[in-house]
Amino acid sequence: MAIIAPSLLSADFTRMGEEVREIESVGTKVLHIDIMDGHFVPNLTFGYTMVKALRPLSGMVFDVHLMMTDPLAYIENFAKAGSDVITVHTECDSDLSQCIDLIHQCGKKAGLSVKPKTSPEALFPYLDKIEHILVMTVEPGFGGQSMMPECLDKIAVIKAECASRGLRIPVMIDGGVNASNVRRAAEAGADMMVAGNAVFGAADRAAAFNELNALSEI
Ligand code: DX5
Ligand code: ZN
Repeated sequence: MAIIAPSLLSADFTRMGEEVREIESVGTKVLHIDIMDGHFVPNLTFGYTMVKALRPLSGMVFDVHLMMTDPLAYIENFAKAGSDVITVHTECDSDLSQCIDLIHQCGKKAGLSVKPKTSPEALFPYLDKIEHILVMTVEPGFGGQSMMPECLDKIAVIKAECASRGLRIPVMIDGGVNASNVRRAAEAGADMMVAGNAVFGAADRAAAFNELNALSEI
């Protein structure tokens, strides 16, 4: 069964505290938190102060996805705010090794992400030092887009390389996951899946979360 990680991007921004409590109460273990800088992606969300404000309300793993041109400048702030996993993009301008090292110095798990047009091989130089991989299945920037299923093919490439090095790094997919494609994603090897609209946008979030979990069981 894959781990379904609801994305706060699709929550009601006027009620963030209640939204976090509610989504934890349906059984969520990992909360995906999208940070957009209006530069790396054409959209803005919120910063580390949101992570800091929500941290005392929840025991969920805070999986923080930095869609930022210069994440290196903000990693310490996101770590101190209470992030558990901090993921940066291979396509950003910061030095990736420095980002990973700093995330580790802060005592957090380091993740690397690839956008749809980036080949999975871009992750290979860093596989020995990361704990998390995020494969984008939409162009980052907005929730509620349709999955690009061809991106799922990257998972097998990544897993084969990890296996050849004796590594087991969880691969998460992000974008457009819903009840109609979650099984295909699980079959493609996704260990974790972000679900924004499919959970927070549902009238019955518990039912939607449970359905995605059940369908991801292969
Ligand atoms: C998109 C974000 C995603 C987004 C996914 O740039 O990285 O995490 O919240 O939302 P859905 O599941 O609605 O595509
Ligand atoms: Zn994300």
